Amino acid sequence: SIKVFRTIQQVRQWRLQCLLNGKSVGFVPTMGALHDGHCSLVNQSLKDNDNTVVSIFVNPSQFAPHEDLDSYPRTIDSDLNILANKFKNYTKQVDAIFIPKISEMYPSGIELDISKQRGAFVTVKGCSEQLEGVTRPQFFRGVATVVTKLLNVVKPTNIYFGQKDAQQCIVIKNLVKDLLIDTNVKIMPTLRETNGLAMSSRNEYLSPQTRQEASIIYKSLQTGKQYYESKNSVVSSKDILHEIHSILDSNPTFKTEYVSINHPETLDEIENVEPGTGALITLAVVAPKQDGVGRARLIDNIILH
Ligand code: PAJ
Repeated sequence: SIKVFRTIQQVRQWRLQCLLNGKSVGFVPTMGALHDGHCSLVNQSLKDNDNTVVSIFVNPSQFAPHEDLDSYPRTIDSDLNILANKFKNYTKQVDAIFIPKISEMYPSGIELDISKQRGAFVTVKGCSEQLEGVTRPQFFRGVATVVTKLLNVVKPTNIYFGQKDAQQCIVIKNLVKDLLIDTNVKIMPTLRETNGLAMSSRNEYLSPQTRQEASIIYKSLQTGKQYYESKNSVVSSKDILHEIHSILDSNPTFKTEYVSINHPETLDEIENVEPGTGALITLAVVAPKQDGVGRARLIDNIILH
């Protein structure tokens, strides 16, 4: 049956046993509120590895003081249920779930106010400052820090991330490369709701109507991609962005924070998209929350080949 580990020591012991038995370990880090997007990562890990461990940890250091740490959905019972039951008829099941305490993950303590923080943090420079990093300047430092800690505990053969968070994928790839971490980073495609909206725990913040109308987000990206593909040559980013904005601007419920076209690996801004290099189009929009208090931030992206 599925093991629930609440301490680092339990995970380390289990990991050592896997190693002694010559078993590979796949790892899916999450913040819980699990949906089919998370499950697709778990599914791939079950296929690739002898053993799979999923972590559930709402990581405080990736939230700014004004962000939604307190209100971030926590649905641990349903999460455990999903992990224990969804893969029942598969040849392999999830072996372990790691639900650490904040105090164990942050032995020096953790303050959300960056000027009060103590201890060790990990920054991945060059890909953390732009795009999501503009409105969330400490976000990727928090992500890189917690993923480093989790990697030091789990030491997985393979670790799984979703393309939904494209910049996060790039930060993690550079983290693993530059700090010489012994693991393989696997990126899985974005899972979407029937209307095209990228699955996200934060979709729960939206009213049913807004959630339906949020289909224009992916539609705008697809339109940008179709425009590029229809040209069959070099296309200026400005023209692609114009197509995307014209769709996003058609519904005032959604306020566009940014749409950007960047190099898929360096994240440098691209002026002209050339077949061969390809490009990554990323965007963030904000929409009113169902409860009327504050706004939900939604991100999505598409790759131009
Ligand atoms: P969380 O938002 O819970 O996402 C966990 C993993 O699921 C991430 O790799 C994310 O990209 C992936 N994911 C989310 N929605 C997806 C979708 N619709 N399709 C495919 N994959 C999807 O991302 C985090 O947590 C945190 O930053 C974390 C990496 C756990 C560090 O705290």
